[in-house]
Amino acid sequence: TSRSREGLRLTIIGAPGSGKGTQSEKLKNDYNVQPISTGQILREVSQEDSELGRSISSKLAAGELISNDIMLNIIEKALDDKSNWLLDGYPRNPEQAEHLDRFLTKKNIPLSLVLYLDVPEDVLAERVQDRWVHPGSGRVYNNIFSPPKVKGIDDVTGEPLVRRSDDKDIEVFKHRIDTFKQSTIPLLKYYESKGILYTIGSPNSTDGYVKIKEVLTKFIKTN
Ligand code: AP5
Repeated sequence: TSRSREGLRLTIIGAPGSGKGTQSEKLKNDYNVQPISTGQILREVSQEDSELGRSISSKLAAGELISNDIMLNIIEKALDDKSNWLLDGYPRNPEQAEHLDRFLTKKNIPLSLVLYLDVPEDVLAERVQDRWVHPGSGRVYNNIFSPPKVKGIDDVTGEPLVRRSDDKDIEVFKHRIDTFKQSTIPLLKYYESKGILYTIGSPNSTDGYVKIKEVLTKFIKTN
């Protein structure tokens, strides 16, 4: 189909805990897009025994953004040779958005659309308090919303689940929210002015995903 030739390129913007990773997994299965989570890539690099690994590890634990230079490199490598993708966590500030635009213009492939998951702040904190992850794969659980079959254990590998270093401390979580408001919220205007922004009010996932599918169905029909 023309769709597979032209590709589907999406990015999901949302506060910490808004469900970017959760929605990405569903989109991967239904639309054959490859999720690229910059948070997950960084958590993998943070395990490396190198200066870069250690520096990223301490920044993540403090809830700080990683510098744009490092991110630009990571993203160019991650996008290379892929046609259907879904960015989860990139771009995160205006400089990253402009870089992404330049990169895609050079390749002559526009961003298809931007999904913004708009979730109230009190809901975010609750979700993250109950989040458990499988470090090897990045699989995400929630003790209330999507519990593992056996408490504390990954369904697929049987390995233990952990809490993320940046989820444990409420002050770090608040800092991530503040950074989101300061650095990432300005991107909404940027993408709105390009006519590709879709806001998904998703206090719960069944509603949220239904709305996302509506947006994508319409996009695919008209493009
Ligand atoms: P990243 O991993 O992107 O973290 P984040 O943006 O803080 O987002 P989260 O992963 O916390 O949440 P999510 O929206 O994916 O929600 P999830 O689906 O897990 O980045 C981590 C760090 O890396 C950043 O702080 C920064 O330091 C650095 N970084 C990353 N990208 C960067 C960049 N471009 N530049 C610079 N630095 C960068 O869901 C949350 C929980 O809620 C789960 O438990 C889930 O099961 C549950 N849940 C999901 N949906 C629902 C629902 N509908 N109802 C109930 N529960 C739900």
